[in-house]
Amino acid sequence: MTPTTKKTQKLPSAHMLPDAEGYFGPYGGQVLPPHLKAIMDDIATAYLKVRETAAYQNELKELYQHYVGRPSPIYYASRLTEACGGAKFYFKREDLNHTGAHKINHALGEALLAKHMGKTKVIAETGAGQHGVAMATACALVGLPCEIHMGAVDIVKEHPNVTKMKILGAKLIAVESGTKTLKDAVDSAFEEYVKDPENFFYAIGSVVGPHPFPMMVRDFQSIVGKEAREQFPAMTGKLPDYVVACVGGGSNAMGIFSGFMDDESVKLVGVEPCGRGLGKGDHAATLTYGKPGTMHGFHSYMLQDAAGEPDPVYSIASGLDYPSVGPHHSYLKDLGRAEYHGIDDTACLDAFMQLSRLEGIIPALESAHAIAWAMREAKNLGSEVNILINLSGRGDKDADFVAEKLGL
Ligand SMILES: Cc1ncc(COP(=O)(O)O)c(C=O)c1O
Repeated sequence: MTPTTKKTQKLPSAHMLPDAEGYFGPYGGQVLPPHLKAIMDDIATAYLKVRETAAYQNELKELYQHYVGRPSPIYYASRLTEACGGAKFYFKREDLNHTGAHKINHALGEALLAKHMGKTKVIAETGAGQHGVAMATACALVGLPCEIHMGAVDIVKEHPNVTKMKILGAKLIAVESGTKTLKDAVDSAFEEYVKDPENFFYAIGSVVGPHPFPMMVRDFQSIVGKEAREQFPAMTGKLPDYVVACVGGGSNAMGIFSGFMDDESVKLVGVEPCGRGLGKGDHAATLTYGKPGTMHGFHSYMLQDAAGEPDPVYSIASGLDYPSVGPHHSYLKDLGRAEYHGIDDTACLDAFMQLSRLEGIIPALESAHAIAWAMREAKNLGSEVNILINLSGRGDKDADFVAEKLGL
């Protein structure tokens, strides 16, 4: 199937997609050899069955409340609003979750599923280390061995998360191939996974990869949008005008977007990394500058060369430098339901510092991309306009790196 054969113009409701073969319009699917496709189908069947059971739902609900600390609050940032002189800034505080980011929402769901399926080892890739820490945490909790693959460049940059993964009992695999970042970590994790896919579980860290992962990870993250859809009107009396999130693979964005998908008045904005420029290998703004292609077992927008091989990518935020993106985002872009914009490293660092010094909140560099877009646009919007930003994680992991970079 080519990525253009299934296009329809119907506006999707978040939970009506994908179709039974894992397609979001022309994107997604399972581009895999038959034996791996069969294993992915087993995971899909097990997930669709277990998620209907009261036992699984209650276990996840209890963990979200008593272990993660959900619901995460929404915070009105008055000083940042005043400084930007325009639209009002509200933050969905996923940075306050146990382990410091939204990743724990799907890590717990995946670990419970792996346990339920009787898998013997969980494998995961990580960029910024947040999915790695979340997965190591979830595996410690359910009692499963965990192996995390991480690029050697990211290991140096995100060392606080590396230490945490080790303390939590995960085996860390340093990946020395390619650019030694997120895509290479995915390649390495997949290589390990295919050694024994019947017994191993590859817990993909975003809404990417073959079906059922884009659907499953989105479903686990949809708690963010569900809460925000109730909290925001209770707090302000109306829906937000904009819902904004950074996009690496796209899980935190899919999570918060899903709560507002059917509210046509709410503009959904994904923010991608424009890195240090727009040359090949200098950014990872996949939806903005890529075109449909296939890698890691699924169709989606992709930064690629003439032969369809992934381009090298870069971002100051280790969790955003991936040359593909979640297939649901690709479909939302084509339908015009969400729009995607880029923010470069300099604007990201500025937002990181502004939020820290005006509000006392140190954001993850990934989340700082979404904040930077809102800061850039706020002054062009009136003070009656409300922007809800998904503050996907906290910046403890980035503090030393930023301090050194800025000479603090
Ligand atoms: C805090 C934080 N936000 C966002 C991301 C990007 O991932 P996604 O686009 O799947 O939300 C990461 C990835 O590591 C992250 O650590």
